Amino acid sequence: MSSATALAHPNIALIKYWGNRDEALRLPVNGSLSMNLAGLETRTTVTWGQSETDRLTINGIEVQGASLKRVSDFLDLVRQMAGLQERAMVESQNNFPVGTGIASSASAFAALALAATAAAGLELEPAALSRLARRGSGSACRSVPDGFVEWLPGSGDDDSFAISIAPPEHWPLVDVIVIFSSKHKETGSTEGHRLAATSPLQAARIADAPRRLEICRRAILQRDFSAFAEVVELDSTMMHAVMMTSTPPLFYWQPATLEVLNLVRQARAQGTAACATVDAGPNVHIICEESAAKTVLQLLSGLSEIQEVRLTHVGRGARLISS
Ligand code: PMV
Repeated sequence: MSSATALAHPNIALIKYWGNRDEALRLPVNGSLSMNLAGLETRTTVTWGQSETDRLTINGIEVQGASLKRVSDFLDLVRQMAGLQERAMVESQNNFPVGTGIASSASAFAALALAATAAAGLELEPAALSRLARRGSGSACRSVPDGFVEWLPGSGDDDSFAISIAPPEHWPLVDVIVIFSSKHKETGSTEGHRLAATSPLQAARIADAPRRLEICRRAILQRDFSAFAEVVELDSTMMHAVMMTSTPPLFYWQPATLEVLNLVRQARAQGTAACATVDAGPNVHIICEESAAKTVLQLLSGLSEIQEVRLTHVGRGARLISS
């Protein structure tokens, strides 16, 4: 029996991934940029040969059905790479509450890719590890490298992986995550990616992606907050425009989402270095300079729909914590 434990953070996309050109391989229609979120983490231990079938626990509770199948399919890839027949016990712990709408699949598959390969005796190069994590969940490939990360869409499986463009300490941004109580079950991203192509706006979003990536990459490297803020908000709105105009349409925003987006825009007009972005759910990520975090928290204090606020910093990539 061999075992390894890995830790990974979720990431927030600054330039978003929405839509695959190859669903099975999770090859994206456009490149994307993100930052890892220190403070939120998934710790996963994989032990090969401990059980007769693949088994999965999340926060101590045994999970079956579609989630187990997705993990088991992923483990098949690792078995293939390592020439292994054994089944695995996967024990995963999140330090952020599941079901609050913070996407956990990125940190989950980044940690799983590293723990499963290390426990199987494989030592993958960073690019190979990122490629493998991508097969579990596209955005998971971005949780493998450190800090600010770009996913190069590539021409195929071999060259579609993520790289670090700057370490966490390059720019100490803060992500204030505003979590609303969500009353309805949302459409997950796997299904959402399928619908992206049905929107007549998707072609325009894809065609303009290299320009937004270039602006965002440069803004990060030069720590130019005002250029960063504009392109991050534009990109998020463009993705939601595609979602809202898909067939069937996906409306992730709730009234409170728009309320916070407006508050952030007004605060920025008055000199607060903050901008906002929204993933496949109603929660808002307010990304700000450290000096603006206090003002941002004050902005939120009067809003009753908020369930929780999480303050996170730019984080490192996936790493082994024992093997
Ligand atoms: O990796 P997935 O399939 O969960 O897709 C992520 C989709 C978004 O979070 C909405 C955007 C992104 O780039 O992370």
